[in-house]
Amino acid sequence: MLRTIFFLSSLLIISSHASVQDFCVGDLKAPEGPAGYSCKKPSLVTVDDFVFTGLRAAGNTSNIIKAAVSPAFAAQFPGVNGLGISIARLDLAPSGVIPMHTHPGASEVLVVTQGSILAGFVSSANDVYLKKLKRGDVMLFPQGLLHFQINAAGVNSIAFVSFSSPSPGLQILDFALFANDLPSKLVEKTTFLDAATVKALKAVLGGTG
Ligand SMILES: *[C@@H]1O[C@H](CO)[C@@H](O)[C@H](O)[C@H]1NC(C)=O
Repeated sequence: MLRTIFFLSSLLIISSHASVQDFCVGDLKAPEGPAGYSCKKPSLVTVDDFVFTGLRAAGNTSNIIKAAVSPAFAAQFPGVNGLGISIARLDLAPSGVIPMHTHPGASEVLVVTQGSILAGFVSSANDVYLKKLKRGDVMLFPQGLLHFQINAAGVNSIAFVSFSSPSPGLQILDFALFANDLPSKLVEKTTFLDAATVKALKAVLGGTG
């Protein structure tokens, strides 16, 4: 009997000091590694580490794409660190577009909450998957594939997108080609575009070289 009580109480002690890690709120003071950020000390974690209010307001769509992406990735929302998920808000003004882009580190699921969005992705086989989405509709974009979203309504459209990674990454195709100092000759050579087109696109997107 005594032994049983002793055994049970040691179990209780063990379970109250269980090493299961419920969460790993990112400590943004240290650099992010391949496995994410290191963990904030659990005693310093509060409910606000698990709440993000930055998606309440529309992003600023007064820009060349007439659209805004507001991310709640690990860098903005450290609570998602280590959990394999994150979220963002898309705002598209009339004729707004999220240009052709890829998230190297995550698949994406999009839900339209206002307006209508024409969305599509291109597979590795170069097949096109294209759909005009209405409010409440959901579409998937598999990891790494090029995709885009275009406002298909005459009013502001909104979507929320969640990702299968706390740091999905975002690479915009036109920025990779025309918004840096990759020499124009090499851009022409690798895209088959003529010099005038490359020059015009670099001028719009801020590329040099
Ligand atoms: C939105 O961005 C534009 C262009 O950068 C800027 O002029 C404007 O003040 C911004 N609006 C708000 C509400 O921040």
